[in-house]
Formats: sequence, structure tokens, C-alpha cells
Amino acid sequence: MTENAERIGEAYRRLFGDEPLLVRSPGRVNLIGEHTDYNGGFVLPAAVDKAVYFALGRAAEGDCYLQAEDLRSSFVFHPERIEKTDLGWPNYLTGVVLEIRKTGRGVPGFRCVFGGNIPIGAGLSSSAALEAGLAFGLNRLFGLGLEALEIVKLAQRAENEFVGVRCGIMDQFVNIFARPRAVLKLDCRSLTHTHHPFERDDLRIVLCDTKVRRALASSEYNVRRAQCEEGVTVLQRRHSGVRSLRDATIEMLEACRRDMDPVVHRRCAYVVKENARVEAAGRDLEKGDFLSFGRRMDASHDGLRDEYEVSCRELDILVEAARRAPGVLGARMMGAGFGGCTINLVEERAVEEFRAKVGEDYRSRAGREPEFHVVRLSAGTGVLTC
Ligand code: GLA
Repeated sequence: MTENAERIGEAYRRLFGDEPLLVRSPGRVNLIGEHTDYNGGFVLPAAVDKAVYFALGRAAEGDCYLQAEDLRSSFVFHPERIEKTDLGWPNYLTGVVLEIRKTGRGVPGFRCVFGGNIPIGAGLSSSAALEAGLAFGLNRLFGLGLEALEIVKLAQRAENEFVGVRCGIMDQFVNIFARPRAVLKLDCRSLTHTHHPFERDDLRIVLCDTKVRRALASSEYNVRRAQCEEGVTVLQRRHSGVRSLRDATIEMLEACRRDMDPVVHRRCAYVVKENARVEAAGRDLEKGDFLSFGRRMDASHDGLRDEYEVSCRELDILVEAARRAPGVLGARMMGAGFGGCTINLVEERAVEEFRAKVGEDYRSRAGREPEFHVVRLSAGTGVLTC
């Protein structure tokens, strides 16, 4: 058991005295396929070896007790009286309880201590780890009979409706369905998925954190969604079969250019091309062609920067620096954008030099200290045994 899991288990025992159920819920990376999930398209994420750990137990009374160990903050609520709080973090958890109750299941009082090592706001989806992890844990603790896909959808609804970000389904899905040493290719419309082996001993996935966090990430996120929906409405006038941008082609978009706001056109063009890139990247993996895979990561970043316009100066500096460093197969911003991390596919023997060179560039051009994480692809959410 990892140090973090032991720490959280110990904190629970100190507070409550009984033996908790321990659940590990991982953060995620996304190799390629950004802002495609809510357009009914394809994504290629994986869970990583950074996680939040939950220690859970039943409470004798009806109240629920939450303890955020890393924030040294706690929150008590009654499952039948859930309201949003300005404290922020409890909303990711109380929203889940509310969604479970909406399925007609009762949630008795419980105790929950949690904490871990997923950097917050870095684009590793610490929020989905909280939501899906708690839904999974309560399902086990109380034998609620929720199936894996129901847990995914319910966790997504908690974020959409309670937290207020209209996120797609990628983060919660990979949190539950991920496998070690593999990426998951998800069709976000049919919700069917396949696993592709990914870890090669001579390659590493390196995340560079800009250390920039912008509130824009969630407001602009909802704006992008609305722009994509507007694009679909215009496309539907000529092509009634287009249900989402996943059904559109570049030719269809070109034919509608004059009817479409130029910004909306640019957003849609990015999504259509990114979807095609994910499919091609999946074929690269089947052939073991990581060079080609890396080039598609590069193209993804260029589209996010120029067409979807969700990058920022700090992310661009990191990507440019990575592309100048030796042994880098691909580099792109990851997640919603406007800060957070870049994801880089780097030869193992070049990782030290990568850190030195990219670090130096970022310090001198952005005036900030970046943070590096070399991650391994891990399993999805599960119970830990002592
Ligand atoms: C966030 C959302 C995801 C996805 C990405 C962008 O992580 O939670 O659903 O849309 O942004 O690809």
C-alpha cells in the first residue's frame, strides 16, 4: 500500500476508531482527443499513478462527515438536505450523494476521510477522481447495486448539475474503466471502449505543469460547448443527419462556411480534425508507430492553440521548449486549457535533459518555476486491501 493510502487510512482510524474501506481513485492523462468528448467524438485517456484515497465507514447517526486531509478542512451535511457551499471542495462530493439519491437509493450517514497526490487544477482531473471515487466507494460500502457505467454517468451529472461545469464524460469514464499500462479509446457517443497497450519501457509520459490556474478554464469551457452546438445547428440545415460534430466532415463545414460565424467555423474545424486524429492515432498504436503518434499530438496542440483557442502563453512556451529538446516524440497542452499541464512523450534516456532544458526555457521566458511529473499508466478506481 502506498504512503498516501496509509496516511489516509491512519487519519480515519485516529478520528473514528474503526477499520475503514479504502478506495483508490486515480487522476488521468489524455494522450489525444481534446474537447471531442462533448461532441460525441473519440478520446484516448489513461489513468495515472497519482490518486486520491478515500477511507470510508458507516456512521451511527444520519449525518455525513467529510474530512479533506490535505486541506485540513471538514464539512458535515445531512444526505436529505444538500445545498451548495462556498467552501468549494465539498460540492464535488455532496453533489454525488445528491445524484445517488436521485436514482431512488437512500444514502445512510457515513464518514469519509480523503487526500492524495493529484495536483489540483493541473488538468489531471482531480474533480472526476473525487466524484467517481466517492460514488464507487459508497456503492461498495452500502451495496447500492450501481453498475460501473451508472457510476460514471452519475459522477458526470454531479459535475454538470451541481458544480456547474458542463464537462464531457471522458474523465469519469476513464477513472472507472482504466487498465494499467494501457490507454483507453472511448467512443463518447456509443460509450463503447477498447484498451490499447501503451507503456513502452524506452518511452515516458512526462507532464509539465505551468503552475498557472485560470478561472477562465470553466467559463470558456462552457462557451466552447455552446459554439460547437451553434455549429451543429447550422450544419443541420443542410445535413439533417448531423447530430453532433462527430458526424461532420471538413467538406460539410466548408459548404456551410458562409452561413457560419467565422469563430464558430474555426472551433468546428478543430473538432472535426481532432476526431480524425484520434482515430489515426489509434491505428498508429496498433502498428506500434509512436513516431507518427507523437506527430499527431503536436498537430493536436497546434489546433487547440490556433483554432480552438484554449491554450495560453505559458502552455505554448512549454510546448515550444519541448519541441526543441532532444528525444521528444510529441508535446501538447492537455485538458480544458488556459493553464494546467502539457503532456509530452519522451524517450526514457532523454528525460533528465528534457527537464533541464524545458525548465530553463520556462523560467527565463515565463518567469515561473514549472513542475514535472513522470507518470505511469495505472488501473482505474478500486478497493485497496490491507
Ligand atoms: C475537461 C473535461 C473533459 C474534456 C476535457 C477537454 O477535462 O472535464 O470532459 O472535455 O476538459 O478535452
